[in-house]
Amino acid sequence: MQTDALELRSLTKRFGPVTAVNKVDLYVKQGEILALLGENGSGKTTLMNMISGIYTPDEGSIFLGGKEVAIRSPKDAIKHGIGMIHQHFKLVDVLTARQNIILGTKAGTIKNLEKTCEELGLGVELDKKIYEMSVGEKQSVEILKVLSRGAKVLILDEPTAVLTPQETDKLFNNLRAMRAQGKAIIIITHKLSEVMAISDRVSILRKGESVGSVLTATSSKQQLTEAMVGRPVELKLDCPDCSTGKPLLTLENVSVAGADRPFALRNISFSICGGEILGVAGVAGSGQKELCESIVGLQKISEGSVIFDGNHIEGIPTREIIKRGISMSFVPEDRLGMGLVGGMDIVDNLLLKSYHSYGKGPFLRRAPARELAKSLVSELGIVTPSIGTQVKKLSGGNVQKVLLGREIHSSPRILITAYPVRGLDINSSYTIYDMLNTQKKKGVGVLYIGEDLDVLLELCDRIMILCGGRITGIHPAKELTKEKIGLLMTGESAEHKEATV
Ligand SMILES: Nc1ncnc2c1ncn2[C@@H]1O[C@H](COP(=O)(O)OP(=O)(O)OP(=O)(O)O)[C@@H](O)[C@H]1O
Ligand SMILES: [Mg+2]
Repeated sequence: MQTDALELRSLTKRFGPVTAVNKVDLYVKQGEILALLGENGSGKTTLMNMISGIYTPDEGSIFLGGKEVAIRSPKDAIKHGIGMIHQHFKLVDVLTARQNIILGTKAGTIKNLEKTCEELGLGVELDKKIYEMSVGEKQSVEILKVLSRGAKVLILDEPTAVLTPQETDKLFNNLRAMRAQGKAIIIITHKLSEVMAISDRVSILRKGESVGSVLTATSSKQQLTEAMVGRPVELKLDCPDCSTGKPLLTLENVSVAGADRPFALRNISFSICGGEILGVAGVAGSGQKELCESIVGLQKISEGSVIFDGNHIEGIPTREIIKRGISMSFVPEDRLGMGLVGGMDIVDNLLLKSYHSYGKGPFLRRAPARELAKSLVSELGIVTPSIGTQVKKLSGGNVQKVLLGREIHSSPRILITAYPVRGLDINSSYTIYDMLNTQKKKGVGVLYIGEDLDVLLELCDRIMILCGGRITGIHPAKELTKEKIGLLMTGESAEHKEATV
């Protein structure tokens, strides 16, 4: 029988009163891709951090190739052939890929870089500087760095959260090539379609404990979700028809100059009615950020008008626009810098946004914010010891719920939300979709920028497609398919395509 490349026995990690990981057993074989699945805050990152030497386990043992090892530091982990690709890359921007990879190693220890790179089809341009690279390229450098240090076990913590669908496909091909070379791979992802596509086996954590593992081929998305959540869940989206039919927010011929190109947005015209969700689809960087920012006055528009409730708001300060009832949240690819302060607790982060409704200066009224914090924690299922816990101690997904809850509870009339479910587990994602629907039913106009086309099609009344800063289509969701949206995302009109085949 083949020995497991890595085996964990009864691993436990506590942070003060919180037991983040409780007696977890887990193994991965050589030439196997294991997906690690679990809700936000279930202990996935903590577990992986114990293998990669960032945390020392309080209890339990780690075996590599059948032998028990002690991993006390990231250096130990590397020495034992364990490599972890973190969510936030640790590369030096001004250096080239090659310099980054060699950094911190003894001269001559890194050999055959070109060969490794080529064999795995990583396609890293070794002499390109990091700051010139896309997120996907940077990730390939991280992978190459870890492999060139001799990693046999590769751990990837939500690697696809930052990638475009095309980059994800490429990463998966690379992972398959590594599997063929006998590497043991553990991948964390919240996207069940990715779990189904890439993994051989799935291990599931729930509230810090192992629920067991199943072969991917014998499982289904529904089964995995239920194992993760611990009860039957219905993954269904409603799209109630409750549009007021009256435009609440209108953009007319809005253009925005680009930093490195002639324009970031060109001739954007559309309206959102109260009680409707307008979805926005497009590959990353098609003008989504500029669109959000130009509505709330964070981007200077070079031409055109923004009309909210009958009044021009272009040129008005952001603070004033927010006060009038437009709320905007944009979850960036790296999910950092979302406007929360890590060192402050949940209550203070809520006060940060709603200062005008809770009084000013040192006389902030904490009581209403505490009530709001409590209701958010229970409504959104935020996993936290208390509302007084510092936000930086929450797991990634739970930080995001705090952010979204804060936006939604500022009672906006127009809610602009970009990528609100990035990094969220499936159950929390559906909680967010439900919240958007609740807003819609209250008459709020929602602009929802998302990545998952299936979700856009089910949730939105209409979908607008952006490509290279222009609108390539706005259609009722009922009249669209994933294929049609895909074509519009690349700038081809569906009609044109049909005519030429
Ligand atoms: N440094 C820390 N100090 C205190 N508590 C922590 C720390 N790191 C993690 N925790 C807690 O441990 C639990 C597990 O967190 P972890 O980050 O491992 O979850 P996760 O499964 O990776 O979640 P996500 O899917 O949101 O990334 C959470 O309740 C979290 O608040
Ligand atoms: Mg995590």
